[in-house]
Amino acid sequence: MTQEAEPPSRRQMRLGVFVQAPGHHVGGWRHPDATVEGWPNLSLMQHIAAAAERGKFDMFFLGDGFATGYDEHPSTIGKFEPLTLLAALAMGTSRIGLAATASTTYAEPYHVARGFASLDHISGGRAAWNVVTTAYAKSSAVFGRQHPPHAERYAIAEEFVEACRLLWDSWDDDAFIGDKTAGRFVRPGSLRIPSFKGRYFAVEGALNVPRSPQGHPVLIQAGSSGPGQALAARIADVVFTAQNDLAEARAFYDGMKAQLIRQGRSAQSALVMPGVMPVIGRTEQEAREIFAELNRNIDTAQAFTVLSERLGADMSPHPLDGPVPDVPETEHLKSRAALLIQMARRENLTLRDLFYRVAAARGHLLPVGTPVQIADLLERWFEAGAADGFNLMPPFFPGQFDAFVDLVVPILQERGLFRADYTGTTLRDHLGLTRKARPQFTDH
Ligand SMILES: Cc1cc2nc3c(=O)[nH]c(=O)nc-3n(C[C@H](O)[C@H](O)[C@H](O)COP(=O)(O)O)c2cc1C
Repeated sequence: MTQEAEPPSRRQMRLGVFVQAPGHHVGGWRHPDATVEGWPNLSLMQHIAAAAERGKFDMFFLGDGFATGYDEHPSTIGKFEPLTLLAALAMGTSRIGLAATASTTYAEPYHVARGFASLDHISGGRAAWNVVTTAYAKSSAVFGRQHPPHAERYAIAEEFVEACRLLWDSWDDDAFIGDKTAGRFVRPGSLRIPSFKGRYFAVEGALNVPRSPQGHPVLIQAGSSGPGQALAARIADVVFTAQNDLAEARAFYDGMKAQLIRQGRSAQSALVMPGVMPVIGRTEQEAREIFAELNRNIDTAQAFTVLSERLGADMSPHPLDGPVPDVPETEHLKSRAALLIQMARRENLTLRDLFYRVAAARGHLLPVGTPVQIADLLERWFEAGAADGFNLMPPFFPGQFDAFVDLVVPILQERGLFRADYTGTTLRDHLGLTRKARPQFTDH
């Protein structure tokens, strides 16, 4: 394992693939180049991971949530549990980072710390945890609990992550010596038992997983409200965000970097990666036809679920050809609702226009064009200081992801905007982040 990647000759973008299969677009699964059989399809996941590694991607990323039902987004109705899937994928890959979402509202720090430390070992230092607070109240049903309000969810998340970090630092890096001659499996003095007492969690014991290759898994944060950004500034190595306007994306980027510096961190210690859904055709005409076909295949009830959830209010009673109604701020997903309303007002969208945009990319950037046009857009955003990289959201898998890897990545590489090959082995290496050192303890 190398501890730090070789610096590239110029700043290069990072790329993740956000795997919401069979497709991010509500109608994506019906495309002839989408795989749907044998669901949940492990071979498809293996195919995507192999393609991502062939394309020298930084990471394979799995979102997660707890709701299911006929009218949910087709890609969330039935799926693998993220950590078990990533452990399986670790066996057939050697470089690609493996990122999973885990909720701080519906789990215990010990379970999460243990799962990600194990994945980091299994994968040789490629694990990342997307720290989410779980936005929707309906997620609480399977836990038989009340869904906490937005501010409290973030207060819980702060404690949760702190407890995990202490757990990950339980053991020295070289604790497990296996000294058969001396009869010592672990080195004396190498364990520090965490002692954490917060308002929501208490931890008075150590993690029974040796310290992992990256020290701590890479931490991703994906909430863009004020409290979400504040949490990111304190703990994140990567910030996922939804942005669809260059000026606003730059403002978000600058604001995030300023907050990092206020926390005593460097601007490059956390990378900002907006989501992007490229619809790729060999010609502009073909790309437009693919997009039109996807839109024809939208299930209206499913798309309304996605739209109403993102806005925090039921949109089905409103006339589709009228303006987008004002919606009060809710306790669910504050930043995304604000982003969508802002986009609707800026572009003078009807509710129908917004319905289609959200059914496609849920408010993320949505370019439709040729490989060169897609590469141009990513370059423009990257060079304008709006992003350190992108979290790719193909409308359907594997067709549109393969198209990106085979047709867009080579253009980015030719322009020197993306790596031609991996220079390290861990996800921290790929992202240009240092390994997490264990704090010096004096109280062994
Ligand atoms: C790219 C991206 C991916 C996300 N993935 C998940 C996810 O998998 N599960 C989840 O519960 N929330 C996910 N979120 C939502 C956020 O974690 C957060 O709960 C939500 O944005 C509400 O917080 P906010 O009001 O601070 O933005 C994601 C957000 C973004 C931008």
